[in-house]
Formats: sequence, structure tokens, C-alpha cells
Amino acid sequence: MRRLRRNPQTRELLRETWLRLEDLVAPVFIKPPGGEPEEVGSMPGVFRYPLERAVEECQRWASLGIRAVALFPVIPPEFKDHEGTYALNPESLTLNAIRAIRQALPELVIVMDVALDPYTSHGHDGIPREDGWVDNDRTVEVLSRLAVLQAEAGADWVAPSDMMDGRVQAIRESLDDAGFINTSILAYAAKFNSAYYGPFRDAIGSKKAAGSTYLDKGQYQLDPANPRQAVMDALIDAEEGADMLMVKPGGPYLDILHRLRLSTDLPLAAYQVSGEFSQIHAAARMGWLDYRSTRDESLLALKRAGADLILSYFAPEIAAEIAAGNGNG
Ligand code: PBG
Repeated sequence: MRRLRRNPQTRELLRETWLRLEDLVAPVFIKPPGGEPEEVGSMPGVFRYPLERAVEECQRWASLGIRAVALFPVIPPEFKDHEGTYALNPESLTLNAIRAIRQALPELVIVMDVALDPYTSHGHDGIPREDGWVDNDRTVEVLSRLAVLQAEAGADWVAPSDMMDGRVQAIRESLDDAGFINTSILAYAAKFNSAYYGPFRDAIGSKKAAGSTYLDKGQYQLDPANPRQAVMDALIDAEEGADMLMVKPGGPYLDILHRLRLSTDLPLAAYQVSGEFSQIHAAARMGWLDYRSTRDESLLALKRAGADLILSYFAPEIAAEIAAGNGNG
């Protein structure tokens, strides 16, 4: 076998998987206009950008070759309540951000998360009843309206990340009824109840909203122990009309990506989540891992397992490296 690995030229000729700039989707955290960008403490180099700066940042990323951004609003606590009412405010930060980016960058693909956690005072993705059970159908109704508002504002792909049952079908029907036949649904199809979301919840402030213990979303997000259930759940999203399926987190769930790759021909996305990003940074800072090679390997693993697209906080930096001509891609 070592003849196949003899020198770099041979290895490149025989390489089976590549990471390409075209595969990457860059998440962006957006706070209300005014003020300075704030670095997220647990995510080195990742900022919460005031709206106008977020637009500039998207312009910069697009000029580096980034094709898609995924927007995450940082909603000030005074706008949050039990039901996440602010989500449907026609002048919300979220909708204004979509409009501003759409206007500045007509070609950039805007991926917009559909869930209530940025807007709820407790940090859940849906509306809890008195007894604590997150009400599935009531939540789905709100999410369907939210998705239509986001499409109207200019989102290309709506990405339900809530894990309620039946939401993909409800959102598809609402979009079609409102005439948004070309708005795609990227379903967070296999989203696990993961501890790797910690730094993200820091970034959007849903962690503080939830109090001092890590908010458990086990009522609706998948059990990390359940690969068969994950595939079932994802294939239901496909039947309901999802255009693309996502696995999240990515790196710890490569088996799920691979199983889905074998069970569907729909495009697959992997979300390399905040905790995956932060742990590479942390270990590199300690001098325990080589930053760049670990980063690249972590992304390549997602491609190898079957991802077509990767949402990653590393995306802008990798785009900059490729643009400067020293990337590996
Ligand atoms: C919430 C949502 C989460 C992420 C994206 N959308 C967190 C959660 O479910 O609590 C996590 C992303 C990341 O960790 O990078 N709907």
C-alpha cells in the first residue's frame, strides 16, 4: 500500500476527498445596530457584529468566495418573553438583518435559522406549557409564520433547527401558500441534544436566559445514544419536503452522516458546531494540538463521512487562506 503514498504528488493524485471553498457556509452573529463588534469569549475570532458591521463582514466574506451565510440574531434580553413574541415582529433585528444583507449582496445565499430560542426568556426552541412540556403544534404554527416572514425579507433557505414534529411540512405549505415556491428548506434533520452547543448559547445569550444549569432540550432534540431514531427522524423530514438535510453536531456524529449518505440522495449538510470549534482553539492555545492541521482534518472528516455542505465558524478564515493562495483546498 505504501506505493500509493510514496510522495506528495502521488498522494494528491489519489486523494479521495477534498475540502472546497464552495462547501462552506459561514455562520454570523448579529446584534442590534451601533457599537463595536464583541468577540465571543468562548469562540476566539468569532464576533457579535452590530447589524451594519455584519453587512460589511458578509461583503468581505463574499469577496473571498463565501457563497452562503447562516444568520443568528443576538436579541437583547428586554425583547425576550415566554412565548418568543418578538420573533414575529415585522421590524425584528432578524428580519432587518436579512433585508440589509439581501440588499447589499443580492447573490449571497442567506440561510436563516427557524427556531424560537433567540427570542424566548427561557432559551427553549419552542413555547413551553405550564407543566414544562414544549407545545409541539403551537410552536410549529409560530415557526411557519416566522419562516414566511424570513422568506419575505429575502432568506433563500430557511433552516428549522427546533426539532418539533411536523414542522417541515407545515413550513413548506405556508411558504407555498404565500408564493415562496423557490425558498428552500434546509432541515436540521438529525439534531442532537448536545453539550457541544455551549459556546453558541453564550454567543446569542440563550444560556444566560436559561439560568445557571445547562438547558436540557432532550424533550425535542435527539438522544445522542440513538442512531436508528436519528435516521428515522431525518427521513421523515425528507418525506415532509425538506430540500436538504443537516446533521448536527458534525464531528461527534459522523456515523449518522454516513448512514444518511447511504439512505438518501438529498444533499447533506453538517454543522460543525461551536463546541467543536472552541475545543480545537482551546487545545491549540494550550500547545496540545497543531491548530491548522487539526482544523483541516476536522472538516475533511465531515466531507469523508458524506457531507456536501459544512457550516463552520472556520469558514471565513479558510476562505481568506484560499484567497491568499495558501489554502489546502
Ligand atoms: C438553536 C440553535 C442552536 C445552534 C444553532 N441553532 C443551539 C441549541 O439548539 O441550543 C447551535 C450551533 C452551535 O453550537 O454552533 N435553535
